[in-house]
Amino acid sequence: MNASSPPTAPRIPLPIDTANPVEEAVSQRRSVRAFLDTPVPRETVERILTMAARAPSGTNMQPWKVHVLTGNAKDRFSEAVLAAFDGPEKHTNEWAYYPKEFREPYLSRRRKVGWDLYGLLGIARGENERMHTQHGRNFKFFDAPVGMMFTIDRHLEIGSWLDYGMFIQNIMVLARSHGLDTCPQAAFAGFHKVIRAQLGLDEETVIVCGLSLGYADWSPVENQLITERVPLDGFVSFHD
Ligand SMILES: Cc1cc2nc3c(=O)[nH]c(=O)nc-3n(C[C@H](O)[C@H](O)[C@H](O)COP(=O)(O)O)c2cc1C
Repeated sequence: MNASSPPTAPRIPLPIDTANPVEEAVSQRRSVRAFLDTPVPRETVERILTMAARAPSGTNMQPWKVHVLTGNAKDRFSEAVLAAFDGPEKHTNEWAYYPKEFREPYLSRRRKVGWDLYGLLGIARGENERMHTQHGRNFKFFDAPVGMMFTIDRHLEIGSWLDYGMFIQNIMVLARSHGLDTCPQAAFAGFHKVIRAQLGLDEETVIVCGLSLGYADWSPVENQLITERVPLDGFVSFHD
């Protein structure tokens, strides 16, 4: 990069077949944590969600429900969640994303991505206030113009959560085909009481997670993060 060229998306260290749009979109999807305020047209959001709903689901149950937040509604929502995040009351998840005890190799992977991100931001161990502020950026959807909140009916089982992941991955990959970026956000799940109140949802509705959608701002350092992956022989066994 020189002084005149704007920063661009970092490339992952893999040879990408750029003539293959699926490979390009999957490999260029990454969690973006700083967005431009450029609006995303409503038709684009509708198109992405229409296509994402082509995701498979067991017996075609289609367990996903999406709340799309923009403009003043998004700002009011963010303010409410941020107030809870900064307030004295303890908010906890009603479903467990993470194990009670982190064992290897997951513990090391989790620590690595955390310290890589904070390292880029110049946040050192023990700087709890700065960590808190950075974590709080989740609740402003990292300044993205579109925020999504995904919910599921409480009586649905783990299989529907598997389906849900495919739907959300579709959104993230389809976003790339429109030049958009995303960040999936489980950080919202802990604030289910506030979110239910904000969105007028009943107790039978579970908050799965949120997602930021918009045009990436490549200037902030946090968007230069490239996360690692275990090579093929670390997670695949071929049985011939
Ligand atoms: C369901 C889900 C929830 C996540 N929640 C958060 C979150 O709340 N905040 C955040 O900054 N990143 C969140 N992430 C992003 C992960 O940290 C990220 O996917 C991982 O480090 C790999 O990096 P990459 O997405 O850039 O490839 C989440 C990812 C997933 C799949």
